[in-house]
Amino acid sequence: MENKSSQQQKTLAERDHAVIWHPFTQMKTSGLPIAIARGEGARLYDEEGNEYIDAIASWWMNSHGHAHPYLAKKLAEQANTLEHAIFANFTHRPAVELAERLLEKLPENQARVFYSDNGSTSVEVGLKMCFQYWHNIGNPKTKIIAFKDAYHGDTFGAMSVGGRSAFTEPFAPFLFDVEFIDTPVAGKEELCIQQFEELIKDGDVAGFVFEPLILGAGGMLMYSTTVLEQLLGLCRKNNVVSIADEVMVGFGRTGKFFATDHISQKPDIFCLSKGLTGGTMALGVTTCTKDIFNAFYSDNKYKTLFHGHSCTGNPLACSVALASLDLFDKNETWDNILRITNKHKIFSEEIENNRLVGNLRQRGVILAFDIVIGSEVSYFNNIRDYVWEFFVRQKIILRPLGNTVYIFPPYCITDEELEKVYRAIKQLLTNIEVDHKQF
Ligand SMILES: Cc1ncc(COP(=O)(O)O)c(C=O)c1O
Repeated sequence: MENKSSQQQKTLAERDHAVIWHPFTQMKTSGLPIAIARGEGARLYDEEGNEYIDAIASWWMNSHGHAHPYLAKKLAEQANTLEHAIFANFTHRPAVELAERLLEKLPENQARVFYSDNGSTSVEVGLKMCFQYWHNIGNPKTKIIAFKDAYHGDTFGAMSVGGRSAFTEPFAPFLFDVEFIDTPVAGKEELCIQQFEELIKDGDVAGFVFEPLILGAGGMLMYSTTVLEQLLGLCRKNNVVSIADEVMVGFGRTGKFFATDHISQKPDIFCLSKGLTGGTMALGVTTCTKDIFNAFYSDNKYKTLFHGHSCTGNPLACSVALASLDLFDKNETWDNILRITNKHKIFSEEIENNRLVGNLRQRGVILAFDIVIGSEVSYFNNIRDYVWEFFVRQKIILRPLGNTVYIFPPYCITDEELEKVYRAIKQLLTNIEVDHKQF
């Protein structure tokens, strides 16, 4: 252990490097992290005072801007009242009010709210509700369908229903079997539906878990409302429990409150997190229909949903989620979502004919394209590091997924900030033209 005075001579980033293990980071080659001191609006400021535009909303979390004064005020009020209380046999106002307000926003078929801590756990709970539903009604089913490119989180259940890749390889023996179907991106819709129909025909499928309209970590892959409508229609007809993972796409990202608001079929289970608290605190929510809840509601103790986390229903997280919903009730938030959506459309026209830009796609505030340079498309491609380093030098946080560049801003981002991001992307494309031989 180093003594206190030698620690004080080091920068915060150096001290971090000595003691912290960061997520999704190869610690040997990643270099020193950027130490963030504070945030305001769409900007983050480091310890040296450099400002960065957070163009990916800090891993798709932030909705209304960093250190939002209203969210901070509500959080502080709650911290001075009740920071936490056990959530079995006890309850509190923030949890009850949040559940009521979420159910008002969700489709009418949603009847119950179960709290957890993050996106992965919201999916774990969704899967458990689905499997135990079949178990409790005396018709146990274990088959689950998911998209090949899906990402639902990093806990074992969530990993199991995610696409298999280098990320999951070390854990492959521990993941349960899942029936993977092709992601229905343009041109693959029919194939996906055929695979789905084939799998469900024997009536032994418990559930279908999916990211509605956009698969995030899989590469911001987008698919149509028509095919989602068809898939959920098949679920309904064939008694397959549908589990919508709205962790990334919920809370306005696609232009509507929930991504599944774009279609008429309604999922049986919703998984929510990230934008749920405006990205301010860790909170997960899983909601379900009355039918599913009723399969657990019994005099038989063995039918209980045996799941819970110490921090379940945390009052601080629930309060800040309520405050975030207040902001979503304001026209200003939706005007901003529309403004960003329209600006993205104009920018898309500027780059759509660039020969390095492939599969340009947009839904709501999410704009993505692939850099086409002829080399292998992979998360581990060195184009990824080139792009990341380029944007850091420009003081813009745009963390590509392999060769996929995407913008996913907080709704408060200004026109000027967006213009800066667009200019940087155009500059990146010019630089790649010059440097492309190194990839
Ligand atoms: C669609 C989706 N589901 C689940 C998760 C997991 O959420 P968390 O990182 O909060 O566990 C993510 C995270 O990015 C996600 O994008």
